[in-house]
Amino acid sequence: MNLTGERVKIRKITREDISHLVKWKNDPEIADLIKGGPINTTFEIEKRRYEKGLGEYDIIRLIIETFSGKPIGFISITDIDKQNRKAQIGMLIGEKDFWNRGYGTEALVLLLKHMFFGLDFNRVGLEVFEYNLRAQKAYEKIGFKVEGIQRQGLKRGNRHYDILIMGILKEDFARNL
Ligand SMILES: CC(C)(COP(=O)(O)OP(=O)(O)OC[C@H]1O[C@@H](n2cnc3c(N)ncnc32)[C@H](O)[C@@H]1OP(=O)(O)O)[C@@H](O)C(=O)NCCC(=O)NCCS
Repeated sequence: MNLTGERVKIRKITREDISHLVKWKNDPEIADLIKGGPINTTFEIEKRRYEKGLGEYDIIRLIIETFSGKPIGFISITDIDKQNRKAQIGMLIGEKDFWNRGYGTEALVLLLKHMFFGLDFNRVGLEVFEYNLRAQKAYEKIGFKVEGIQRQGLKRGNRHYDILIMGILKEDFARNL
């Protein structure tokens, strides 16, 4: 998968990206937003995950890069369900200088265009923690709706937090374009 937008490109992850993933996931601020606590991953763990991913039929792992070829983030498409034309996604912009500048939204719109109109998906879902307001804002701008709340689904420190279940249909996305 090679997608080209205005400022970002999306491509399949390669072996050379493993060290970026390690750096991004080990950043405490990013880990808090995607896991609710430290991730403490290693090159070996991410290498194994990368190799396992190559053989999985229901997962696609992608890198977001700038036009100059700098890797800035990661998107995973998981739970690919061809019969029901749906999948889940997870994403991170790992280079924090690129937060709040529209890169995440642009990358996700680019991917969704391809998923809905190129690959004929009908639905894409994701989960986001209640305190991750930036991510919620980005998803809502694109047309994701909150479909439910998994109450206290996350333990973060000594407190439990809700997980928002969000989803977007092809028709929502097309309406919002
Ligand atoms: C979430 C993420 C992918 C969004 O990408 P991004 O490029 O930073 O986001 P964008 O700039 O496209 O959009 C963010 C929006 O949130 C807004 N925002 C930022 N902080 C906010 C806050 N605390 N409360 C409400 N809105 C906020 C921004 O103003 C922007 O909206 P605008 O375009 O109307 O001004 C990226 O920030 C990221 O990877 N964060 C760390 C990991 C993460 O949270 N992953 C998602 C897990 S579900």
